This record gives sequence, structure tokens and C-alpha cells, in this order.
Amino acid sequence: MKLSIAELPGDGIGPEVVQQAVKAVEAVCSSFGHEAAFTFGYMGAAAIDHSGDPYPEETHRLCLDSDAVLFGAVGDPKYDNDPNAKVRPEQGLLAIRKRLGLYANLRPVETFKPLADKSPLKTELVEGADFLCVRELTGGMYFGEKGRKDGGDTAYDTCVYSRFEVERILRLAFGYARRRRGHLTVVDKANVMETSRLWRAVAKGMEPEYSDVTVDYMFVDNAAMQLIRCPKFFDVIVTENTFGDILTDEASCISGSMGLLASASVGEHTSLFEPIHGSYPQAAGKNIANPVASILSAAMMFEYSFGLMEEGKAIREAVAASIEAGVVTEDLGGNRSTSEVGDWIADKIIKI
Ligand code: IPM
Ligand code: MN
Repeated sequence: MKLSIAELPGDGIGPEVVQQAVKAVEAVCSSFGHEAAFTFGYMGAAAIDHSGDPYPEETHRLCLDSDAVLFGAVGDPKYDNDPNAKVRPEQGLLAIRKRLGLYANLRPVETFKPLADKSPLKTELVEGADFLCVRELTGGMYFGEKGRKDGGDTAYDTCVYSRFEVERILRLAFGYARRRRGHLTVVDKANVMETSRLWRAVAKGMEPEYSDVTVDYMFVDNAAMQLIRCPKFFDVIVTENTFGDILTDEASCISGSMGLLASASVGEHTSLFEPIHGSYPQAAGKNIANPVASILSAAMMFEYSFGLMEEGKAIREAVAASIEAGVVTEDLGGNRSTSEVGDWIADKIIKI
């Protein structure tokens, strides 16, 4: 199979970790007889420096013309500390999500047995936890009307959802629940927010169509607590954009490191695969960042975009073997560099 992949490394540690994912993809291609062509695109702060636009038209066209997008991270401290900046790297990520219609962000949370003691939570709580967060990605406060009034002294971000947006993400989540362990948790704040009441009403209306799925409803504050109190309770979580952003950072503690969690953003056009972590500027260029989240995003790419399940599995097995062998970066208590871990995993894929 010929795979044309848009490679958008972005900022900070993005380029280093994506490079390791590329190695894994190339190893899989050589083992399974596929051909991958990567084309670079500017994104984030790197794109602002290059052309002034965090998501240039050229990159957008590249994404539309590709079979999948492998994305690193965006963000640069020089913008974080400047509240008056007119253009920000993160706008590039929001733009690509919106323009490719990537309304669903799938964030699986799994645990690796040898890492159970790396979680700040008790081993017996996290061991065996395995759930999927389905985060809505193109609506809510991220995209609602925002602005300033009263001469700049009042600011607002509006949370807006239409029935259409809610129903399509819920349908996806119900489908995953049906194919997994049949348990869906709808996370909202329906005791306070009108958008959440719409979510709840739409979900309730869909329940009869999915009578094989057990549905429960949880307020987001309670969900934040249950996630670390009892992570094994969850199978599929579905929630709106902002809640999903926050809960999945929290959920990364269950696995032991932010550097382990991969994600797929899917929707109307080309799907995008990205680690859930950010650009981690303190580590940029130091060859110390954990590349596993990016490598596992490549596994998701094989599975979701190309339907190549065995290829995805080969990557997953190689990652598990690297962890088993203690070939891990410092966030997991190891002493291997980013590229060493990437090389080891690519080599293992060839041997599998
Ligand atoms: C994520 C990130 C982004 C988000 C930022 C970089 C805009 O935190 O993918 O989770 O908030 O969605
Ligand atoms: Mn986030």
C-alpha cells in the first residue's frame, strides 16, 4: 500500500518525537511491504516565524491531499507570556481541527504493567485501567464567540453546541462503547450549564438505539475525582471540548506519564494523529522527551486511516517490549534519549 503522510512536527519537542514516529512508520513499511511518502508542512510558532500564519494555506492543502497527518505539538513560551500577542501558535492547531472538520478526538488511556509504580496513584488502583476518552474537538468554548467589552475590562468565551454537533460525537462514542465493554459515561455539567443539558437530552434520546450499552451521566467535577479514585470504572467517556482537554491531562497520570498518551482526531477530512502532550519547550532540542506518545499515534494512524491492524499491533508490541526492557526516557525513570528509544522501537518492529 502507498501511504502519503503529511508530517507537521510543529514546535518544541514536536520535531524530535515525530522523527521517532517516522522511524517506526518506516520500519513497519519495510516489514509489511508498504511505501510511505512524508511531506513536511509548517505549523504553529515555526509557521508564524516562516510566514506569519500558524496554519498556512499551503499546509492546509497538503493535509487535504494526504491520507493522514502526523502532527507533533505547537506552542512557544514567548507567546504564552504575551497576553497581547495578535497571533498564537495554538491558533494553528484550532484552525487545522476546524478546517479538516476533526470533530472527534479519541484519547485511549491504557496502563503498562511495568510502569504501574510510575503512576502517582496506588498500583492496585491503576493496574488494568483501560478506557477511551472521546473529546469533542471543534465546538464549545474553544470556538464560540469570544471577546472583550467595557473597554477591555470584561472578557468572555461563549460555550455553544448545536444538536447536530452533539449527536454526531455521541453516536461515535456509543459505537465505541458497543465495540468495547458496553459502558458509556457522558460527562457534563448539566446542573449548571445549558449546553450540558442539551448534551444530556440528546444522549438520553439516543439510549434506546443502543440498548446494549449501559449509559451513565456524571458531572465533570465528580468525573475528575472518580478518574483518579477509581479509573477502572470507565470504559468510554464522552465529553465536550474543554472538559475533555482537562480530564485527559489528568488521565495521563494513570498511565504514569504524559509522554505515553496518543490520540487520533477524526472527522470529515484527513485524520490527524498527535500525542496529547504539548510542546514541552524546556526539553526542546535536548533529546530527552518521551517519543512513545508520538509513536503510538503512528500506530493509531495505521489502524484508523489505513485499516492496517497488524501493522498497528507491531508498533504497539514494540513499544510494550521497550518498556518491558527498561528502554525508557527520564520521565519514566530511565536514562535513554529520545532517539535511542525511537531507534530501539524501530529495530524491534523489524524483528517482530
Ligand atoms: C491539546 C492541547 C491543545 C488543546 C492546545 C495546544 C490548543 O492542549 O491538544 O490537548 O487545548 O486542545
Ligand atoms: Mn490539552
